[in-house]
Amino acid sequence: MKTQVAIIGAGPAGMFLAHMLRTEGIDSVVLERRDRDYVEGRVRAGVLEQIAVDVMRKLGLADRLDREGLVHGGTNLSLDGEIFHIDMEKLTGGSTVTVYGQQEVMFDLFEAAGPRGVNIVWNADNVSLHGLDSDKPSVRWTEEGAQKELQCDFVVGCDGFHGVSRQSIPDTVLRNFERVYPFGWLGILADVPPCNDELIYANHERGFALASMRSPTRSRYYIQCALDDRLEDWSDDRVWDEVCLRLGPTAAAKVVRGPSFEKSIAPLRSFVAEPMRWGRLFLAGDAAHIVPPTGAKGLNLAVSDVTYLSEALVEHYRERSAAGLDNYSARALARVWKAERFSWWFTSITHRFPNMDGFDRRIQMAELDYIRGSENAQRVLAENYVGLPLD
Ligand code: FAD
Ligand code: DHB
Repeated sequence: MKTQVAIIGAGPAGMFLAHMLRTEGIDSVVLERRDRDYVEGRVRAGVLEQIAVDVMRKLGLADRLDREGLVHGGTNLSLDGEIFHIDMEKLTGGSTVTVYGQQEVMFDLFEAAGPRGVNIVWNADNVSLHGLDSDKPSVRWTEEGAQKELQCDFVVGCDGFHGVSRQSIPDTVLRNFERVYPFGWLGILADVPPCNDELIYANHERGFALASMRSPTRSRYYIQCALDDRLEDWSDDRVWDEVCLRLGPTAAAKVVRGPSFEKSIAPLRSFVAEPMRWGRLFLAGDAAHIVPPTGAKGLNLAVSDVTYLSEALVEHYRERSAAGLDNYSARALARVWKAERFSWWFTSITHRFPNMDGFDRRIQMAELDYIRGSENAQRVLAENYVGLPLD
């Protein structure tokens, strides 16, 4: 088997890239370890930056997004129950975010794949990468017990944090930068109306809470929890009580409780691997970097990475120029690090850290109070939250 670009992983990075290349007439094959139901079923990100919405539109995949996505011109912060509003649209001169779950994005990308000739191999086991530092790279895997091989011009690792691609780069080449946070997020989904028409990010003495949504009838709530907390210890009642307490009385009065149909705990991590290229291998999305979820940057960074990479691949095939590919890692990392900074900062001002003393807490409170009172501070938050422009 032969193709131009072998893409490892059918998450957002891999599927957006495959669609982008398809519209430019570049062939690719996506190799995914799991099946479609599994990838589509994973409950993850919920907020799209304008650049992600624009990419969906440019690909002609935004009909449902434009119908069902919830456009938010503002967001809210809460300090010990007192909520204040950030008018992102006004502060940024018109930028907004759109609430549209990662599951919906994946559904739209998968539905269009067949009709458009985007090739996906599901259940590709034991994927291994070969010849990455030669001009004849290849990928091998097993499919229903049979050994398969794909020869290609380039391999793109879109296989997430635990994938095989980053691990194929020699230790002598790769530098990792990391912060692991001493807490996690417990998230629930419930078919109840959201407590507010916009999101609320809450800093409370007992820890962080986030009121989010998927639709006018489906709510998503998160609360900061201990890393060793067990789901069995978090009954729905206990989660709702904690959500209400941390959001404060104004929001709590509008919280509609109901049975959760999804409940999970995710650890928080900041991570960047540099460079995002080795020979004929390119990394994109979570394969190269992780952000803590505060600020909802993970999925959006995957989109900006593959936007840059598809431009570089088009330049390579059309103009026979390596300039875009040579510049990909530096270009992507410049945007990645700014989103890392924002996510780290937003996490640091909204969460309760285990060794926080009175001084640390007062600094957090002062920072939030400063944001509440300063249009300049709000503008800085807003322009990062809606997403920095592509260069
Ligand atoms: P992934 O979505 O991880 O996709 C990688 C794909 O590669 C997967 O389908 C995987 O099965 C496949 N794969 C892995 N290894 C191999 C292999 N060896 N061979 C073949 N295929 C392989 N972001 C937010 O903005 N907000 C959130 O609330 C949020 N919540 C999250 C919760 C969790 C538990 C996690 C893990 C992430 C969350 N994120 C969130 C981050 C966001 O979902 C990711 O940034 C986004 O999915 C990145 O897309 P990706 O395509 O780079 O990687
Ligand atoms: C959601 C997740 C986030 O990390 C965030 O900052 C906002 C919303 C969500 O899943 O709805």
